[in-house]
Amino acid sequence: MKKIFSILVVLVAPGAFAAGGSSEFIEHFTPDTTNKASLQRGARLFVNYCMSCHSAGYHRYIHLARDLYLSEKQVQENLIFTTDEHGVPTKPGELMVVPMTEKYAKEAFGTVPPNLSLVSRVRGASWLYSYLKGFYLDTGREPIGVNNTVFPDVGMPHVLWELQGFQIPVYKTETRNGKEIRSIERLEIAVPGEQSPEEYAVTAADLVNFLVYLGEPARLERQRLGIWIVLFLVVFTIIAHFLKREYWRDVH
Ligand code: HEC
Repeated sequence: MKKIFSILVVLVAPGAFAAGGSSEFIEHFTPDTTNKASLQRGARLFVNYCMSCHSAGYHRYIHLARDLYLSEKQVQENLIFTTDEHGVPTKPGELMVVPMTEKYAKEAFGTVPPNLSLVSRVRGASWLYSYLKGFYLDTGREPIGVNNTVFPDVGMPHVLWELQGFQIPVYKTETRNGKEIRSIERLEIAVPGEQSPEEYAVTAADLVNFLVYLGEPARLERQRLGIWIVLFLVVFTIIAHFLKREYWRDVH
């Protein structure tokens, strides 16, 4: 019963419960998987910055060629950086998995970086967007030195720090029941990165769009088909209208 309940919660409220993280830091984000340029940038960011640790194990590279309007050669040259144990580059037909072993990951991060194929379904786009923007310096957290507003005590380092820079929290204090409670009010850039906050917001959006696409590749196909179906209905309605006029002409 408990299990059924938790499955229901996952289905009904994606992203609503965030690993104990505070929902006040979840910024609303509406993903756009029709934006091909954004998806291509997202794919590039993903293979460069995320796939050293995370797999997208239900997906093959070749699907990126099909869905993001890239040639097989472009995918091979720009998106595949992994090799097998003999140094032979991974082929486009293969699954997007990382060579890191679970044992190594546990030693390095204390936990295994999850397969991100379906993470957008579980967490929701807004949570992911806020997560990528929510890393801040926390000296108490050895060895990674960062924490996250929507994923407290996260085991993942801030891998996009070169782009975003490092943020520090600005605190507020409230008095509740006579007790002073200190909590984070907002984050502020302490060490600037290569990108401005506006540019970094686009980077986060590109990655989230890509993760949403990974979670549901058929979505692109549906959107493509949808346009043709609507067009067909419009044309068919016009034909039906004239046909009706033609049939009824002699009756009146
Ligand atoms: C250095 C290794 C490493 C890299 C690189 C990395 N991650 Fe992670 N990531 C982790 C680990 C470890 C966790 C598990 C954190 C935990 O459970 O405390 C994690 C967790 C996550 C989660 C939370 C999953 C969940 O639902 O619990 C998301 C989302 C995520 N990573 C996205 C990304 C994205 C996007 C990138 C690329 C920009 C990336 N990660 C790059 C190590 C990494």
